[in-house]
Amino acid sequence: MTAEIIDGKAFAETVKARVGRQVEALKKNHDFTPGLAVVLVGEDPASQVYVRNKNKSTVAAGMKSEEIRLADTVSEEEVLAVVHRLNDDPTIHGILVQLPLPKQVDEMAVLDAINPEKDVDGFHVINTGRQAVGLPAMVPCTPLGCIMMLKDRLGDLSGLNAVVVGRSNIVGKPMASLLLAENCTVTIAHSRTKDLPAVVRGADIVVAAVGRPEMVRGDWIKPGATVIDVGINRIEGENGKTRLVGDVAFDEAKAVAGAITPVPGGVGPMTIACLLANTVTAACRQAG
Ligand code: GUN
Repeated sequence: MTAEIIDGKAFAETVKARVGRQVEALKKNHDFTPGLAVVLVGEDPASQVYVRNKNKSTVAAGMKSEEIRLADTVSEEEVLAVVHRLNDDPTIHGILVQLPLPKQVDEMAVLDAINPEKDVDGFHVINTGRQAVGLPAMVPCTPLGCIMMLKDRLGDLSGLNAVVVGRSNIVGKPMASLLLAENCTVTIAHSRTKDLPAVVRGADIVVAAVGRPEMVRGDWIKPGATVIDVGINRIEGENGKTRLVGDVAFDEAKAVAGAITPVPGGVGPMTIACLLANTVTAACRQAG
């Protein structure tokens, strides 16, 4: 068996095109342009690439994009002052503070300061709690993109065994919560899990989000399972050049799985598309 490759890039293009049409209609019918602000602290190269891509996609979708860059020596008070200014800016409907932040800045304090209605990352505890109890909420972009790809391939997810490998606040925990809301039987596996391969072998859906290159091996995968690889790891290739790999050993898993997302070109593009979709959702809710 060789798995279907889930084309996240193509799927993201359809989501972005839909967002573009929504933005156009808002401008034409309501004279209203959604705005997204992205705050980048420091010079982390990976974060710079993400922020540049977010900015480009926001503009391409017809929205206002504001990028705020702060030095990595910035104080927590200065970051909080920027967040408060954006909270008060009526032309900005979505605020994203790129993580990680330098150690002198308390991440939780910054996320907590963002107006939950403008929290397009869905990281504010209000949104985490609202999503967990089934109220309308801003939902984190990466898990949202994963759910969209899963539903597109599998339809109804009810009753399926889902194993999420990784328990981060950004991906693992919200992913598990969204899968539960889709009536999956959910297991969160992590570094202390006993016999991880055996746990993963029970999964109809595997979501790998651990940040360890190619950790999930092909013989951990149940034949026919759907595998979503959230990892983006840069490793040294045979020719001395670096290459991107996921948290799943792709070639091995592809031989066993029913469907699998590639890295790059799987989850990554969907995350940005969902950020744009969340920004339009937030803007419409704020406009009433
Ligand atoms: N850093 C890595 N992924 C993310 C994300 O989805 N949102 C934010 N704000 N920072 C990140």
